[in-house]
Amino acid sequence: MSVPPSDTATLSLRRPDDWHLHLRDGAALRAVLPFTVTRFARAIVMPNLDPPITTSAAALAYRERIRAALPAGARFEPLMTLYLTDETSAEEIRRAHASSAVAGCKLYPAGATTHSAAGVRDVGHLQAALEAMTEVDLPLLVHGEVVDARVDIFEREARFIEQVLAPLVERYARLRVVLEHVSTRAGVQFVRSARPGVAATVTPQHLLFNRNALFAGGLRPHLYCLPVLKSEPDRRALIEAIAAGDARFFLGTDSAPHARHAKESACGCAGVFSAHAALELYAEAFEREGMLARLPAFASEFGADFYHLPRNEERVTLERSPWTVPAIYPFGAGELVPLGAGESIGWRLQPPVTGAAPAGAAAAGTSP
Ligand code: DOR
Ligand code: ZN
Repeated sequence: MSVPPSDTATLSLRRPDDWHLHLRDGAALRAVLPFTVTRFARAIVMPNLDPPITTSAAALAYRERIRAALPAGARFEPLMTLYLTDETSAEEIRRAHASSAVAGCKLYPAGATTHSAAGVRDVGHLQAALEAMTEVDLPLLVHGEVVDARVDIFEREARFIEQVLAPLVERYARLRVVLEHVSTRAGVQFVRSARPGVAATVTPQHLLFNRNALFAGGLRPHLYCLPVLKSEPDRRALIEAIAAGDARFFLGTDSAPHARHAKESACGCAGVFSAHAALELYAEAFEREGMLARLPAFASEFGADFYHLPRNEERVTLERSPWTVPAIYPFGAGELVPLGAGESIGWRLQPPVTGAAPAGAAAAGTSP
């Protein structure tokens, strides 16, 4: 691995991809997309719009809206996903595959998270869809939490694995499966001991923080996401899997923007916005854990390999050069509070990011 030692001033890697991203639509899409395209060549775009993207036709139309929102000259490939429901048919899966625009299908248990009300109530109803996905080799992307309110929120991932995911992975033995935003030791152990074709994405917040951070000095709504941050042993399990160079764990930010007022509320929305500094935040986390040398494969190789896509040839360089994350970014008519708002990040993308902060950005700090 041609990775410099951790005291080096720069780190060069293939341009990475984000294998789990929420781009939203309309003004919100226009506000957040530039951050992602500055850093990533491709992204798996989540389908939980309102209404959700349940058909290939809707996925293709959404892809056009994303393309139309790209900054001039930007090269970026949105990889679309279908939102599975109890009614998703085998024909819809085949259409999705034939479209070449859809890279996977997302399973949201109904009620598990933002805009998941139309999600899957009973995976038993997915049989035809899952068989068709196996046949055309379209990966299943899973929000792995049970929705039963009686189950402790910190146990919902482990319970989902036990009750739903483990049997599903055995039953559809050739289906490729991604446990999205893995957050627990149980999740890590499941993926590490699973059959080939099972992988997981890991977010920056689940690497940087444990659940204490949610309550540090008061309630921190901007660190609230689903799955919620977990215990320190859980966080360590994620770090250990990555430090071992395990190719089943790769980058997926789950950057999920919500307007500030929707987060700072009596019933705040789940979602951490990290696209403004996604790669830099991973670099920070990896360096802190002494595993910076693992970043290039985690960010730019393992995910592409899993999705059977070519690794990007273009390169990006991170430079050790601290900058302060703005307190807020504009977000349509509202504001967006980014991960690490007002704090210093040790790594900066080189050359200096252009077009990442829309004109008139209400920046309280210096933007790279
Ligand atoms: O925190 C989250 N936010 N988790 C999800 O699964 C969905 C996402 C969103 O769309 O806001
Ligand atoms: Zn997500």
